[in-house]
Amino acid sequence: MRVSITQIKEMKQKGEKIAMLTAYDYSTAKLIDEAGIPLILVGDSLGMVVLGYDSTIPVTMDEMIHHTKAVVRGTASALIVGDMPFMTYQVSYDDALRNAGRFIQEGRAHAVKLEGGESMAETVKRIVSCGIPVMGHIGLTPQSIHQLGGFKVMGKTPEAAICLVNDARALDEAGVFAIVLECVPEPLSKLITEKVSVPTIGIGAGKYCDGQVQVISDLLGLYTDFVPKHAKQYARLFETIKQATSDYISEVQAGTFPTKKQSYAMDESIIAELEKSM
Ligand code: KIV
Repeated sequence: MRVSITQIKEMKQKGEKIAMLTAYDYSTAKLIDEAGIPLILVGDSLGMVVLGYDSTIPVTMDEMIHHTKAVVRGTASALIVGDMPFMTYQVSYDDALRNAGRFIQEGRAHAVKLEGGESMAETVKRIVSCGIPVMGHIGLTPQSIHQLGGFKVMGKTPEAAICLVNDARALDEAGVFAIVLECVPEPLSKLITEKVSVPTIGIGAGKYCDGQVQVISDLLGLYTDFVPKHAKQYARLFETIKQATSDYISEVQAGTFPTKKQSYAMDESIIAELEKSM
């Protein structure tokens, strides 16, 4: 049975912390699903950690749908959230509904996420009214990186803090089932978590959020171009994979790979007969 948005919301009521991770492909999704992760985000961070763009801005709907399909195919239990790319929900309500619908219908995701607070509340309401669960995302919103002037902690002044509380409340009222708080000071995310009815999922927002989300490539130490302060590397796969690759190259060059173990045998007499006939 898939985890439902009702179960995710109940986790806040029961005081059970929610773990969420990103995934972008079948094998990784399968792995983390089997490990018991209840929520998977097919994040537009895909653009940076998988596709090699310098931000999330160039990511397209077609790229997101392609990867969402793969993640869904790899999972049996987790609830899959598709991240709506830049400019696929801001231009018009029609666009927002059509693209949210594509995530559910083509991508087979179970919910969508979009960035923005009060200004996105009406869009959220309309998507939710079509039966599509929405996850909000406020604080550092990477799709607005040029407006924000870089990756930084948000809500540090009294005015900015009030704006964030209002954003969270507006999303809550609009019907989101959870809100991502990215790069928000811990005391502010604690306050927001207390003031909204739905779970807050933090990334760089401290321990008082109802849940945490991490980019899988940060968690596994796979993406090393930029490692944010709030990321914890539970493994260092970049080094592990690089070492494995250079071991392989060395063994191929030395002729020590493959050995008998990796080779397929056959009756030598067949080869002898074949040689004679040639
Ligand atoms: O795209 C993403 O991975 C995200 C998370 C950082 C929340 O939006």
